[in-house]
Amino acid sequence: MVLTSKGWRQFFSLFKDPTPSAEKLAAFAARMKAQREEFQSDNWGHDGTISKRRYADYDEYTAHQVDKLDSLGGEAFVNAEKAVRLFRKRFELIDQLTPHGSVLCLGARRGEEVKAFIELGHFAIGIDLNPGAAPEFVVVGDFHALNFADDSVDCVYMNCLDHAWDLDKILSEIRRVLKAEGLFVADIVYGYEEGFAVGNHDTMHWTKARDFCELIASLGGLKVETFRDLSEHGSPQWTQAVMRKV
Ligand SMILES: C[S@@+](CC[C@H](N)C(=O)[O-])C[C@H]1O[C@@H](n2cnc3c(N)ncnc32)[C@H](O)[C@@H]1O
Repeated sequence: MVLTSKGWRQFFSLFKDPTPSAEKLAAFAARMKAQREEFQSDNWGHDGTISKRRYADYDEYTAHQVDKLDSLGGEAFVNAEKAVRLFRKRFELIDQLTPHGSVLCLGARRGEEVKAFIELGHFAIGIDLNPGAAPEFVVVGDFHALNFADDSVDCVYMNCLDHAWDLDKILSEIRRVLKAEGLFVADIVYGYEEGFAVGNHDTMHWTKARDFCELIASLGGLKVETFRDLSEHGSPQWTQAVMRKV
């Protein structure tokens, strides 16, 4: 899949430069090529829908993940308020959210997604292996072992399943903390067959977002209620799956 010029503009506007120069586009294309080559190397294993980065052990995985924010200099977004607005746009699409309900955000880093849920009237908190310095909305935690009670949360939100170590464990934890008929909202990047190139800290990837959505729904005992492409909502190469615990 090739991005349209509008798609490229939208993609770059997520960061800082809405009209990238030819030089920046070339540098970006070179980075994508390098990432595709890395994905085809022995550092990754491929099995059907799912591909996984090879780590020696769990400690190596967590150390690599903790490194991500540090490698970005402690802040992920040049304009954090803009990121919050983009998250709000995504979340405003979700009709099924319980008004003023509780939302747990997994892998929330500095908490822009948590802030967006709070601005929309929810009781929200995030967890992350590395929430950085003086986090306001996120506590330290591992999404493979949640420090929250059974059947206690209206909605779990996650946009980083591409940082998973053990999909079964994560989905069983999500199912455990969700209330009966609670929602799991997963924002899922396009698969590699759809043109997405995996990043340096990604641990898992998939052929197509929709196929991955069906897989996580079946692993988590969830029913897919909505699956939408977020490209026209300011987030090119992203999809959103709204799933309900059944
Ligand atoms: C791509 S970032 C996404 C951050 C945030 N959701 C956002 O959109 O800005 C992935 C995040 O997942 C975190 N992470 C990776 N593995 C984790 C784990 N096992 N438990 C909790 N957080 C994890 C990383 O530290 C990183 O902040």
